[in-house]
Amino acid sequence: MLHIGPVSLETPLLLAPIAGYCDLAYRLVVRSVRGEHGGVGLACTDLLCPQAILSENQKSLWLAATSAEDRPLCMQLYGRDPQIMAQAATWAAGHGAAVVDVNMGCPVDKVTKKNGGSKLLCEPGLAVEIVKAIVRVLPAAIPVTCKIRLGWDDQTLIVDSLPIALADAGAAAITVHGRTTAQMFRGQARLEGIAKVVEAVGRRHPQVAVIGNGDIKTPADARRMIEATGCHGVMVGRGALSQPWIFRDIAHYLATGEMPEPLTQAQRARLVLDHFENLVRLRGERVAINTLRQRMSWYSPHLQPWAGLKRQVQEIKSAEEFRHLMGTGIDESRRSAVRGAT
Ligand SMILES: Cc1cc2nc3c(=O)[nH]c(=O)nc-3n(C[C@H](O)[C@H](O)[C@H](O)COP(=O)(O)O)c2cc1C
Repeated sequence: MLHIGPVSLETPLLLAPIAGYCDLAYRLVVRSVRGEHGGVGLACTDLLCPQAILSENQKSLWLAATSAEDRPLCMQLYGRDPQIMAQAATWAAGHGAAVVDVNMGCPVDKVTKKNGGSKLLCEPGLAVEIVKAIVRVLPAAIPVTCKIRLGWDDQTLIVDSLPIALADAGAAAITVHGRTTAQMFRGQARLEGIAKVVEAVGRRHPQVAVIGNGDIKTPADARRMIEATGCHGVMVGRGALSQPWIFRDIAHYLATGEMPEPLTQAQRARLVLDHFENLVRLRGERVAINTLRQRMSWYSPHLQPWAGLKRQVQEIKSAEEFRHLMGTGIDESRRSAVRGAT
């Protein structure tokens, strides 16, 4: 169990925000996979623009959409204006957020040129003001968290300064992606940098959780992250896009030291179909087909052997055709017949 302020998570495993990917349809798939030791403990929306949600822009409302099964939910905000961030946090609290996160790690120009995302690592005073402004307006039951990187670049690492200031300002947890902004997504996540944040925060704020993030693709990666850094929880992004069941596997491995029985290909195909059906229900057939066409490059390696799968998905024109294709994966006997024929 992991505590983020007053919020108790069933497992210390978090789904990362990944812009363009972690919407309600997908989060529901991740949440549906639970093993005997649990599954995902907290899932996050993609980064939300405060002005856009406050003006109830349709696209942003979809990004923030949630449901009763989508709990507990963290909503992530990005921006640089403490008052607007606070107003958006109030909106988030009124629309299903159990936790509000401030994005201080996004390296993308569109965000950093407006001084949001990881640009805040260069303006610690402003980052602290944002956290204070949000803490001031949120009810005590809803904690504020921050997602940071190690620094803007190797010359300006913030691992033993900003995290403490954020915790002083009232942040209940800090997630650290073990790269600098200059690194973008290159190289390996640096566990020693995450360990420094754990140590620095722990010395002054032992109740503040530090979550390690970066390059977790297997349960063994998660254990390595925890052992090497002492972090209290781990956040998984890209590893979950290809394996929405990774949280169930990590939970089992951390609890028992053993890998669980892998999901069968039929179970995996069922999850892909669930993702599709969620999208049909929430966004309609066209969006569902287009989305699953894009997502198949993530899913496909974990559905093999399935000759021609990616090509077959590109040729899909209707929901019925998609259901039929996934049906061949779900029904293993039909599936081997399909394999035999290819
Ligand atoms: C395409 C893409 C979009 C991302 N969008 C966000 C975002 O909206 N907010 C955020 O804090 N991090 C975002 N990230 C960073 C991830 O949350 C995570 O920190 C990073 O991918 C490292 O973790 P991983 O190796 O488990 O993927 C994004 C990463 C990728 C690859």
